[in-house]
Amino acid sequence: MLGFSFLGCYNVSCMKKFPQGFLWGAATAAHQVEGKNIHNDWWKAEEEGVLKFPSGEACNHYELYAEDFALARRLNHNCHRFSVEWSRIEPEEGRFCEEEIEHYRRVIAELKKLGIEPVVTLHHFTSPVWFMQKGGWVNPGLRKYFLRFVEKIAREFASQVKFWVTINEPMVYSSHSYLLGVWPPKETSLLKTAKVTFNMAEAHVRAYRLIHEIYRQRSLPSPMVGIAANLQAFEVCRPTLKNRLAAFLRNKLYNFLFIDEVRSRKALDYLGINYYSRNLVDVTGWRIGDFLAQTCSRDHHPLPKNSLGWDIYPEGLYKLIMASARYKVPIFITENGICTEDDNLRWSYIRQHLEQVHRAIAEGAEVLGYIYWSLIDNFEWDKGFTPRFGLVGIDYHDQRRTVRESAEKMAEAAKNNGI
Ligand code: BGC
Repeated sequence: MLGFSFLGCYNVSCMKKFPQGFLWGAATAAHQVEGKNIHNDWWKAEEEGVLKFPSGEACNHYELYAEDFALARRLNHNCHRFSVEWSRIEPEEGRFCEEEIEHYRRVIAELKKLGIEPVVTLHHFTSPVWFMQKGGWVNPGLRKYFLRFVEKIAREFASQVKFWVTINEPMVYSSHSYLLGVWPPKETSLLKTAKVTFNMAEAHVRAYRLIHEIYRQRSLPSPMVGIAANLQAFEVCRPTLKNRLAAFLRNKLYNFLFIDEVRSRKALDYLGINYYSRNLVDVTGWRIGDFLAQTCSRDHHPLPKNSLGWDIYPEGLYKLIMASARYKVPIFITENGICTEDDNLRWSYIRQHLEQVHRAIAEGAEVLGYIYWSLIDNFEWDKGFTPRFGLVGIDYHDQRRTVRESAEKMAEAAKNNGI
């Protein structure tokens, strides 16, 4: 081998290296893995039969987290993203549960013991029942409750945590819960969607300032506070004016509006990108809904798909990283993953997306790390347990974990810090 620099190489067979200190890991979210999150809005909707699939004990990660983290360590992960469940910490308004705080203290301590950097999400789609009964995210007057929870958690864990994700995928939350009506509270109001989105943006900005203030007071090194934004690759099916206009609008409203807002208020230390797929824009109607949501229903641009039918389009990740350069903050791939029964496809998905991340880095993007969704198979919201996103498979009959081949391959990449 002729040798390689950190990014490029002079020999076709040599490895594409990632920058020193690159973070490799996988993510989970409380309600999807812990089991028995009985005080949140999802659980309530599941119990009432408003949702088809109950999360039940999910992966019992609440009890088995140490076993799961040991697997992550064995797979050479040096970071791990998870969420703290607000409804466990504050099951009733104003009553903070010390036992649950101690639970998450043990979770974080376990990660640190294994040399795994915790990346802590504060809101990942679920909210306490009491908060939703008061009006939830629609009501700006209730933001103070989220901020009180954030303050509590940040004060407890400031000395242990560097990376915070305040809110996971605000646009997915507002659109699924308030526009499409598929997630609790199953509303279909454009006005409420807008309110929730802006309320979450404001909540993020304030949480950002609050967390920074706590670190300042304690003279701790400055934390990295960001959001995890779901970005989609909006590509036109045919380059008609209508399609281009629609793609422009979707990019602006869905991908970048929220980020523009929080970045312009200087409340972003890094941008977390959650990337999965392409959205092939093809607008035939004239209604606003057509411009915002219509996609190509024919099959003349076929791509391989995941088990939910989402197109696999790795180049989209590169394009979105490059488009995000304008924010002038580091990028963190906080989610990228595939549900599939074909584990070879999983590894090829991961490898191809890593190649695109590498390509962006080689062209000057600053990317802190790559977090695969998900460490373990889990509860895929309204789709239940059928989609298999995990690097580690779960047998839901006995909670047995099985490390997949793709996980071993990603472990090799993490070990080599390259592909
Ligand atoms: C969410 C996860 C979800 C994953 C796969 C992301 O939108 O943050 O909670 O499981 O995508 O759909």
